[in-house]
Amino acid sequence: MRVQVLHGPNLNLLGQREPDVYGHVTLDDINEMLDAEAKTLGIELRKSQSNSEGDLVDAIHDAAGWADAMIINPAAYTHTSVALRDAVAASEFPVIEVHLSNVFAREDFRHHSFIAPVAVGQISGFGKDSYRLALHAVKGIVES
Ligand code: DQA
Repeated sequence: MRVQVLHGPNLNLLGQREPDVYGHVTLDDINEMLDAEAKTLGIELRKSQSNSEGDLVDAIHDAAGWADAMIINPAAYTHTSVALRDAVAASEFPVIEVHLSNVFAREDFRHHSFIAPVAVGQISGFGKDSYRLALHAVKGIVES
C-alpha cells in the first residue's frame, strides 16, 4: 500500500511557529513518526511539503498512478483554495484531510474547509496524532 503525505504552507516552520497553538513538534518529528508507524502497518510513504498552492496541486496530480491514498494537511489553503479542492476532487484515490489544531475551536474563518466535502473525512485537533490516526484510517479504507 502506498500513501502520499502532503504538508501545506508554513508547516515547515513547526517547532518555532505559534508554539501555543502547534506545540514544539517539528515537521521532521511528524515525518519520522509517520515513517515508523507506516513500517508497522506495511505502508510505503512519500512525503512532501510546499508553501506554494500550485506546487501542491502538482503534487496531487503527480501522486496519480503511484498513491493508493493521500493524507493532506492543506494548512491555510484549507480555507481558501478552490484549486486544491478541484485537484482533490479529480483524484482517483481517497484523500484524508488532517489538522494539528482543532480548527473549529479557533477563528471563524478556519471553520470552513474547501477540502472536507471532497475528502473521505477530516481529522482535526490531535496534534501529530492527527496524522497517525489518518494513517490507520487510510489502511482501513484501502483494504476494505
Ligand atoms: C492547520 C490549521 C490551519 O487553519 C492553519 O492555517 C495551519 C495549520 C493545522 O494543522 O492545525 O497552517 O492546518
